[in-house]
Amino acid sequence: MTINFDSEDIGCNDSNNQKFEDVLTSFVSRRSVLAGGAAAAAFVFAGASSAKASSVEPTRRTASGVISRKRPPINFTSIPLQNSAMPTIAPEYQYKVLLPWRTRLDGKGEFAYGLTSEQQALSAGLGHDGMWYFGDDRKGMLAVNYEYGTTQHAIGKAVPTSLEEVRVSQHLHGVGVFYIEQGPKGWSMKKDKRNRRIHVNTPVEFSGPVKLSSFIINAAGNEPQGTLNNCANGYTPWGTYLTCEENFNGYFGATNPSWKATAEETRYGINASGFGYDWHKFDPRFDRSQPGYANEINRFGWVVEIDPENPKAKPVKRTALGRFKHEGAEVVVGNDNRVVVYMGDDERFEYLYKFVSARDYRKMIAAGKSPLDEGTLYAAKFNADGTGSWLELSQRNPALAGWTLERILVNSRGAADLAGATKMDRPEWTSTGPDGWSYVTLTNNTRRTAAQVDAANPTANNADGHIIRWKDSDKHVGTTFVWNIFAISRNVADSGGQMYGSPDGIWVDPDGRVFVQTDGAQPGGNNDQMLVADPVTGQFKRIFTGVAGCEVTGVAVTPNRKTMFVNLQHPGDGDPKITNFPATFTGASGPVPRDCTIVITRKDGGIIGS
Ligand code: FEO
Ligand code: CA
Ligand code: CA
Repeated sequence: MTINFDSEDIGCNDSNNQKFEDVLTSFVSRRSVLAGGAAAAAFVFAGASSAKASSVEPTRRTASGVISRKRPPINFTSIPLQNSAMPTIAPEYQYKVLLPWRTRLDGKGEFAYGLTSEQQALSAGLGHDGMWYFGDDRKGMLAVNYEYGTTQHAIGKAVPTSLEEVRVSQHLHGVGVFYIEQGPKGWSMKKDKRNRRIHVNTPVEFSGPVKLSSFIINAAGNEPQGTLNNCANGYTPWGTYLTCEENFNGYFGATNPSWKATAEETRYGINASGFGYDWHKFDPRFDRSQPGYANEINRFGWVVEIDPENPKAKPVKRTALGRFKHEGAEVVVGNDNRVVVYMGDDERFEYLYKFVSARDYRKMIAAGKSPLDEGTLYAAKFNADGTGSWLELSQRNPALAGWTLERILVNSRGAADLAGATKMDRPEWTSTGPDGWSYVTLTNNTRRTAAQVDAANPTANNADGHIIRWKDSDKHVGTTFVWNIFAISRNVADSGGQMYGSPDGIWVDPDGRVFVQTDGAQPGGNNDQMLVADPVTGQFKRIFTGVAGCEVTGVAVTPNRKTMFVNLQHPGDGDPKITNFPATFTGASGPVPRDCTIVITRKDGGIIGS
């Protein structure tokens, strides 16, 4: 990629809101004051030491009032870190490759390297990321996000030199929906009329408060098209898939040297060169200096809903969920059957958000309304005493007096600044466990200065990240919560030393096992990986390691949880000198490595993670 920096590790938040590490410092320093009180019992740093971890939530109070701790079995053999060109997996497990880049939707194999934009639009994309599986234990639809792909990886050139090459790049991105089934030789994709690709030029529609807004209408009159940088995901109780647009800023640039970013554009990281994709040099939609497309930028940065069963339905951008660098969208059913969506904005010093639907989601659907179109958006404020509050981002909040709802939703970052949300260390995925505790990975934030370090704050200069969890009042729909730290990455160790850094993907299974996937620097310069943590002890085991230069991301399961799908993104960063995965490693003369889905099963047919 021509990007010579971590595109997700930038920072655009110059507001004066309190940073999470400040809260943490303050909170840790107050722990002794609170010791023995109810608050102290609830807030223990699981990752700080195993001794402390033993008293961490979740706990269950039985009818007799005795607190019992339920620990899911995690009995596999934890494997060492690896730096190999091929993946490794715990000895009780096995894996197979599914749906690598260029797999044809029509079930006729794959297109060769060097495919046309038309072929790319009819095959699996690049940058496999979040995904979800909709089906039974043997067959169903798999929806897969394609987050990004460098021009170097995809076409062997540092930058595109024609519109056709831009179109190849655009068609790498988006989402793939595939029918898959398990046969005698494992899972495979089959030809099906529901198989489809959604990419940067696919017609889409807008819904919710910004639907007909002047914020998204262009003078050029072009219809809304496309989704991009599809990172993590969500899924709804009504059977649809949510794909989240993260670093949309990187695809825009300006051909006119006199173009200047507005303050709001700067707040969202938009500049004249973008991440080096150079789409703007051939496609005016992505040229910020084209007056006819002035609002194209506002058409990205949303959560997009897709019906995996209906290939004729347009993807719908759900504007009530706000516009930012959406990492994921974890949907839970809260009190009164209102749906709640937890969402991270992945950039350093950005915020954690939630959306609560206006009413019972089933009644809204029965009345012909989407539960994701009407409701309230909030941003999180973490207090020093282990409590927190959800700050309403609406005209009802005095801090947003004078803002229209449309403006709040299009410029959610600016609204959360004014509301006073807490600046976080890059909120990535969120997931909610069976006990109602929700987790968020905070992948890293190296901008924490030495001046902010103190003995009680293990996340100073937070190069390795941490994971926090919180529990909302009123079964997810309340405006207050309690929180604690689940793991500080640099303090999580086994006999081989520190186990991981840069947590990103997270999924808590229905038994409470916490699956954690990494994206970034790992101890010893080793490969990214997937681990499974005990929610009670905070103990981690390593179940899978990827290949050199890849990211391990995305997690989906069959209903019986005996098959798990995870993704390997950018193996070798696209360089065959590093890996040829999924082909056996032969070096630079071997095939260009391909992003793909990894299908994991337990050799004894057991539940994944056990
Ligand atoms: Fe696309 Fe923040 O990971
Ligand atoms: Ca991610
Ligand atoms: Ca990441």
